[in-house]
Amino acid sequence: MKAIQINSFEEYQEKYTKSITQPEAFWGEIAFNFRWKKKWDTILNWDFQDFQVDWFKGGKLNITETILEENIVKNPDKVAYYWEKKKKKDQHKSITYLELYYQVCELANGLKSLNVQKGDRVCIYMPMVIESVVAMLACARIGAVHSVVFAGFSANALADRINDAAVKVVLTADGLNRGDKKVDLKSMVDEALVSCSTVENVIVLDCIHSNPKMKNGRDIFYHDLIAGKEKKCDAAIMDAEDMLFILYTSGSTGKPKGVVHTCGGYMVYTAYTFQNAFQYDSKDVFWCTADIGWITGHSYIVYGSLLCGATSVLFEGIPTFPDAGRFWEIIEKYKVNQFYTAPTAIRSLMSFDLSFVEKHDLSSLKIIGSVGEPINEEAWNWYYKHVGKNNCPIIDTWWQTETGGIMLSGLGGLSPMKATFAGYPIPGIQLELLDTEGNKIQEANAEGYLCVKFPWPSMIRTTYGDHERCQQTYFSNYKGYYFTGDGAKRDEHGMYRIIGRVDDVINVSGHRFGTAEIEDAINKNEYAIESAVVGFPHDIKGQGIYVFVVVNTKETDENLIKSSIIDSIADHIGKIAKPDIIQVVKGLPKTRSGKIMRRILRKIAEGEKDNFGDISTLLDPNVVQCILETR
Ligand code: WTA
Repeated sequence: MKAIQINSFEEYQEKYTKSITQPEAFWGEIAFNFRWKKKWDTILNWDFQDFQVDWFKGGKLNITETILEENIVKNPDKVAYYWEKKKKKDQHKSITYLELYYQVCELANGLKSLNVQKGDRVCIYMPMVIESVVAMLACARIGAVHSVVFAGFSANALADRINDAAVKVVLTADGLNRGDKKVDLKSMVDEALVSCSTVENVIVLDCIHSNPKMKNGRDIFYHDLIAGKEKKCDAAIMDAEDMLFILYTSGSTGKPKGVVHTCGGYMVYTAYTFQNAFQYDSKDVFWCTADIGWITGHSYIVYGSLLCGATSVLFEGIPTFPDAGRFWEIIEKYKVNQFYTAPTAIRSLMSFDLSFVEKHDLSSLKIIGSVGEPINEEAWNWYYKHVGKNNCPIIDTWWQTETGGIMLSGLGGLSPMKATFAGYPIPGIQLELLDTEGNKIQEANAEGYLCVKFPWPSMIRTTYGDHERCQQTYFSNYKGYYFTGDGAKRDEHGMYRIIGRVDDVINVSGHRFGTAEIEDAINKNEYAIESAVVGFPHDIKGQGIYVFVVVNTKETDENLIKSSIIDSIADHIGKIAKPDIIQVVKGLPKTRSGKIMRRILRKIAEGEKDNFGDISTLLDPNVVQCILETR
C-alpha cells in the first residue's frame, strides 16, 4: 500500500496538519485505496458526550477482499506467512496469498454448512498456527464476528467470554506446544462448554495428534469440515460499521469487557499504521512476535499486514526455547526486515550471554519495534545496540486493544527518536494531557492523564452488550474525551513518553489484568476472606502481581494456602496471571467507609517502609505496621 505511505518527516508534519484541519478529506483520501463494494456517504459522525461514532457510513465492503482478491490480482504466489514451528527440526511451512484465499474460502463454506450466519459470534481458541489466521478471515468472509481468546486462558475464563458473546461455534485444536510442554486445549473447551448453552458446534484442528475425545453431534474435526468444500466463497457484503470482531480485555473493574471493532474503520487504520510505522516495502519480511490472541496479533500479524500484502513470519514458539537465540536465529533464517516485539522479551533475552545474539546475522533488519508496555532505557539501549547494531530505528509504539491500531510511534526512520519516548502521534490522532481536574497541561515534561479528543477510524465502538459500560469506562472521567487509563508526559518537541497505567490495571509481561479480576478469583478460594492485588516493579515482567490476602482458620499451613490460591487464579483466569508474591495478612488498610487504600499497599509492594503519607483516615492505622512486619 505504497499509496498511503508517508515518506519524510516534513510530509508527516504536513499530513498531521491536514488530519486536524480537514480530517474528513484526510481519511477519505486514505480510505479510497481499499476495495469497497460501495463508497461511503459520510466519512464521520461522532459524539464523545453521549458516545457514538461511525466512520464511512453507507460504505459497503468485505475486509477479506482487500486482503485476498486484491493481493491475488497483484501477486498470487507471494508468501503471506512463513510459519515457524516450536522446534527447529520440525519442518516449517509457508502459505501464499492464493493458498490463503483457497483455505479461507473452504473454511468459510465449512462454517456456512454449520449454519453460521452473518452477525453470529464464533470463538477462536487456538494455537499460533496458520489455521488460526484462516479462521479469523473465514469468519470475516461470511460476516461472522470472531472473538479470539488467547489459548493461555483457563476453561472458566473461556466460558465467561463465550457466554458474554453468546457464541454459536467454537474453533479450537486438540492441543498446542508451549516450550517443551503440551497444553490440552480440547479438554479445556469441553470443561468450559459444560456451562455454555449457546454453542452448537466445536471445530477441532488436529494439531498435536492427540486423538481427542469428540462429542457426538457437536464436535467435528477441521479437516472433516473442509473436506470437499468449494475453494470459492462469495464475500458477505458488510456495512462499514458492522462488527468485525470482539476482543476481551481487562479493565479496572469487573469482568473483562468485549471491545468491539467494526469493518471499515479498522481496515483503513490498521493498514495505514502498518504501512507507515514499519515503512513496509513490498519485498520485506515482517515479524511480529505477539500472539494472535491479543490485539497486537489481530492488527499486525493478521489484518494490517495482510491488507498491505506483506509477507510475515508466524512463530509458534517462545523466545527462550530451545535456547535464548531463537528469535535471532529466525531473523537470520527469513532475513526479517521489520521485527516487532515486547520489552519483556527484550529484558528476558538481554539477561543471557551476548553470544546468543552475536552468532546470528541480523543485517537484514531495517526497523525494530516495541509494544505493550513502557520500554526502560536499559532495554532500549540493548535493543538498539545489539539487535539493531546501532543503525536500525526503534519504533516504540503505544496503543491499546481499544484503539485498534498504533497511536503514538516514530514512522520507521523518518521521525526523530529518543530512548523511552513513544514519539509523535500518528496523523489523525489528537492527544491531550489533562490534570486531575480536567485542565489541559500545556507545559513541557509535566505528567498528565492521556486523553484523545477527536475520533480515529479504528477506535472502540462499544463494549459488547453493554454500551453504558463503554461510556462509563472511557468517556465519563473527562467530558468530551476518550480516556486511555495511561499517564504520560510530553517534551518540548511534542514527543510523548508513556509512564504507565493510572487505574487498577496492571501490565505483566505486556499482558493486561485488572486487579479486581484477580481479586475475584482469589476470593473464590476456600481459605480467602478478602484480598487486594497490586502491581509492583519487576525487572523482567515490567510489573509483577502482589497479593495481600486475609485468610480464615480452616488451614494453618501458609504454603498450602498459597498454592491453593495460585490454583484458584489458574482456574479462573489462567496460569498467565500467576502471582509473584502472596502475603497472608491479618487485615487490609481500609478507610472508615470500607474502601481499601491501594496507594499504601502499592508502596508496601514496592518495598517502601515508612513513607506512607497521611494514614490517619484509616479505620485502623496499626494494620500498616502489621503488614510491614510480615512482609
Ligand atoms: C500499555 C497492547 C508504554 C499501556 C497494544 C496501554 C504501552 C496498555 C505501550 C494497552 C508502549 C502499550 N509504551 N505502554 N509502547 N504499548 N502500552 O490493550 O498501558 O493489551 O494502556 O494493547 O499497554 O494494552 P493492550
